[in-house]
Amino acid sequence: MGVRIVEHPLVSHLMTCLRDKNTEPAAFRAQAGIVSRLVILEALRDLPLRPREIETPLEPMVGTELACGVAAVPILRAGLGMLESALQLFPDVAVGYVGLERDHKTAKASSYYCKMPDMDGRLAICLDPMLATGGSASQGISLIKAENPDGIVMASIVAAPEGIERVQNDHPDVEIVTAALDTGLNELKYILPGLGDFGDRLYAT
Ligand code: PRP
Ligand code: URA
Repeated sequence: MGVRIVEHPLVSHLMTCLRDKNTEPAAFRAQAGIVSRLVILEALRDLPLRPREIETPLEPMVGTELACGVAAVPILRAGLGMLESALQLFPDVAVGYVGLERDHKTAKASSYYCKMPDMDGRLAICLDPMLATGGSASQGISLIKAENPDGIVMASIVAAPEGIERVQNDHPDVEIVTAALDTGLNELKYILPGLGDFGDRLYAT
């Protein structure tokens, strides 16, 4: 599957704010929330619809309603910065949590928590703002796949080509939607130009 980059002047504007090292956590959280809303909307653009008969105050009509539920799975911690946006957009969303942490030396992610909801009849959206080596996203997607959702889409805010390649190799059936495609990784596997450590920026750690 391909990669979709969300193109909107507001996203470009907010990405510059998020990347600015002088942006404080409160502003960072608010800006990340707005970007997340736009990314999630784009990622769920193909949600199926079915007809629904209603009556407006003036006459009957056939509208549409969502024909499938949504399951959101943030990868802790940084994915929590995108979760509130998913809850606002889809109040009936089922939420799973995957705890993964990269080793600072090897950049390999290891799992410390996993709790998944029933995903029957739901499209799953994996939330992780940083797709660096792609190791965390790939592990998260594997855990989601074990729950047999109707489909999976990966939502990120900043993606590196290396991370995209890894996810596409491991999960060719999963589309990636991101707000920005950056140039690459540094020797510590941080995204360049990137925005630094998303979890630290979000939670002032
Ligand atoms: C960060 C980020 C991603 C991961 C991306 O998490 O939130 O989950 O790194 O890197 P990768 O694509 O190379 O796997 P981190 O492990 O720093 O944990 P945190 O979210 O708790 O800060
Ligand atoms: N995780 C982050 O938070 N930032 C990066 O640049 C890479 C991984």
